[in-house]
Amino acid sequence: MHLQFIPILGLLLMGSVLSQYYGYDYGSPDDYYSSLAMGPSTANCAPECNCPANYPSAMYCDNLKLKKIPMVPSGIQYLYLQNNMIEGIDNDAFQNVTDLKWLILDHNHLTNANIKKNAFSKLKELQKLYMSFNNLTELVGPLPKTMDDLRVTNNKLAKITPNILEGLENLTVVHLQHNKLKEDSISGAFKGLKSLLYLDLSYNELTKVPMGLPPSLSMLYFDNNKIGNIPDEYFQGFKGLQYLRLSNNQLKDAGVPGNAFNISTLLELDLSFNSLSTIPAVNEGLENLYLQVNKIQKLTVASFCKVIGPLDYSRIRHLRLDGNNITRSDIPNEIHNCLRLASDIEL
Ligand SMILES: *[C@@H]1O[C@H](CO)[C@@H](O)[C@H](O)[C@H]1NC(C)=O
Ligand SMILES: *[C@@H]1O[C@H](CO)[C@@H](O)[C@H](O)[C@H]1NC(C)=O
Ligand SMILES: *[C@@H]1O[C@H](CO)[C@@H](O)[C@H](O)[C@H]1NC(C)=O
Ligand SMILES: *[C@@H]1O[C@H](CO)[C@@H](O)[C@H](O)[C@H]1NC(C)=O
Ligand SMILES: *[C@@H]1O[C@H](CO)[C@@H](O)[C@H](O)[C@H]1NC(C)=O
Repeated sequence: MHLQFIPILGLLLMGSVLSQYYGYDYGSPDDYYSSLAMGPSTANCAPECNCPANYPSAMYCDNLKLKKIPMVPSGIQYLYLQNNMIEGIDNDAFQNVTDLKWLILDHNHLTNANIKKNAFSKLKELQKLYMSFNNLTELVGPLPKTMDDLRVTNNKLAKITPNILEGLENLTVVHLQHNKLKEDSISGAFKGLKSLLYLDLSYNELTKVPMGLPPSLSMLYFDNNKIGNIPDEYFQGFKGLQYLRLSNNQLKDAGVPGNAFNISTLLELDLSFNSLSTIPAVNEGLENLYLQVNKIQKLTVASFCKVIGPLDYSRIRHLRLDGNNITRSDIPNEIHNCLRLASDIEL
């Protein structure tokens, strides 16, 4: 059932703001670097790969059934090796390209045992390292301090050694979804990453939220874990948290302290597919709240508005409560004064 309240604005979903983080294409890096002058390149190319004339600092070696890293001539800064059968990386694999910026190794057969200890240590300018869909059991490193984007999803990561990300002051985006991480095996791993904005730990084996996450985080995703409770004030430790996802966990009312989700900076909160029986208190500025498929019995005004006044009302636009035990008759009248902007409430 859809209840139409004052139909003000359409749904304000996060799309445009976040699209840069979702893209998983390997589009040519000149989208990003068009403003940088790229001097004449002396790069030749590995015979099996492709180095486009109009983009000589990129070498494309994807989909070639390669079992090892090909020769990489100097001048290459963007190296695409996805969809091969590469099993390891030698210490000297990148000896000609210490200024490599992007290294894309998704969909290979990499294991920790076959990646030599100093494989990445000479890469003084590496920004992006993608190693999703491999066979890694722990995060590789140490990684260059210049890194800004690390993606190691769909491996078998069970562990991140605490100092392996140390000092990566520009690391902004980390994707670790679909691994086997537990809270104890990552505690302290992200400490001191002062630029980290985006961390995705969905589809892991967390039973608690991890300690020691950097306060800079703006997007934090824990969907599909086994988290059963949130320590008091845990999310208040983040200075600008805007998007928080905890769908498909094991949250019950008892594990959620009163103001756990009343986080002043939050715009979107996903608590769908848990076992909550009441709507937790949320901040006034929250715009999207997903609570579908819980055990909620009642739409409580006090969860959204402690006080109602000319400027005191909930900024919620989109609220999902379907898959709970609430019907239209459970909705109190005063909710209209509180949820003034809600254009769409799904029951
Ligand atoms: C380094 O470049 C030289 C000359 O292009 C090439 O022969 C050699 O194989 C390259 N080394 C590696 C590890 O790619
Ligand atoms: C990963 O390892 C398993 C078992 O060791 C093996 O069966 C599988 O083919 C490997 N996958 C890749 C992508 O290398
Ligand atoms: C981090 O980024 C800043 C600004 O781009 C740069 O000046 C600094 O050298 C970078 N730090 C590292 C360790 O690369
Ligand atoms: C959320 O926290 C703020 C600040 O502590 C408080 O004023 C507000 O009443 C709380 N909101 C709810 C719905 O409890
Ligand atoms: C749903 O709510 C109704 C009335 O509020 C109650 O009688 C019923 O037991 C609830 N059903 C479940 C499955 O909780």
